[in-house]
Amino acid sequence: MIKVQDIVYCIYRSPDLDKTHTFLTDFGMVDAGRTADKFYMRGAGSYPYVNIIEKGPAGFVAVGMLVGSAAELDEAAKLPGASPVETIDAPGGGKRVRLAGPDNYRFDLVHGMTPAAELPVRKPLPINFAWQKQRVLDLQRPDFEPARVVRVGHCVLKFSDGDYAVKWLQETLGMLVTDRMHLPEDEKKMLGTFMRLDRGDNPADHHTIFALQAHPGDIDVHHTSYEVQDPDAVHIGHQWLEKKGYQLAWGVGRHLLGSQVFDYWRSPDGYIFEHYADGDLLNNKTKAGNYSATQENLAQWGPPVDPVFFESRRVPA
Ligand SMILES: [Fe+2]
Repeated sequence: MIKVQDIVYCIYRSPDLDKTHTFLTDFGMVDAGRTADKFYMRGAGSYPYVNIIEKGPAGFVAVGMLVGSAAELDEAAKLPGASPVETIDAPGGGKRVRLAGPDNYRFDLVHGMTPAAELPVRKPLPINFAWQKQRVLDLQRPDFEPARVVRVGHCVLKFSDGDYAVKWLQETLGMLVTDRMHLPEDEKKMLGTFMRLDRGDNPADHHTIFALQAHPGDIDVHHTSYEVQDPDAVHIGHQWLEKKGYQLAWGVGRHLLGSQVFDYWRSPDGYIFEHYADGDLLNNKTKAGNYSATQENLAQWGPPVDPVFFESRRVPA
């Protein structure tokens, strides 16, 4: 049985590679290679890249997820609509199988990439809590710089049939349901389901895929999310992006489901990219929860959410 073990990369298309490259650099990603028609961006973690941007009309292309063995790739290649096992022609190499998921979203399953050397970043800041002092004779002086992306955290996709998508993620990728979110007026109608990795007793993020029920015609990625080293980095990154004139989508705040300190920004093509820090970790014993999609259940603190935040793609003015 296939059980995806991590999220590795997201692929987008953009008509203006240079403009998108500048945005992702200000967002805190680092160059990882370029060809005539695409470029690779990495985080500070050990995956060779976290984003690929291909030249073309703005769009979401694929999400890449890690499987634990070459045997799982062979198994995936037998699924309906799957590609054969392919050699990845990109930094770090490895093998992949491209799967056609619900609504034809492309899920790449990958294995055998050569890890990249981790990049140095500012260490997480030691905090002096009121009753617990851990920083004495040591000054707090973080640099003013982009929030340094470490890794991809999660991907939020809108599906025409959310219930079917959840079943597919469970049965095909071996993912688990963490929390379900229903419409406030009807407990039977799902708005979205947070899905996590099954790593057995080992910790996994609260969600790696959030499967949203789409409005008719709005089948698209809602956002992709990237972990940074600590909450200060989220706030410093917010000021950096604000100073550069990018469009804020929502933040800074702290979510309820997943508990992340979050900050959301629109790319030049109108897609939302999220920074986060301090998310919840669960294991495969954690029981699924049920929540109503109210403002209080979206964030514990932070600015009120603007309804345009829920639009998948909105090109900044
Ligand atoms: Fe998110």
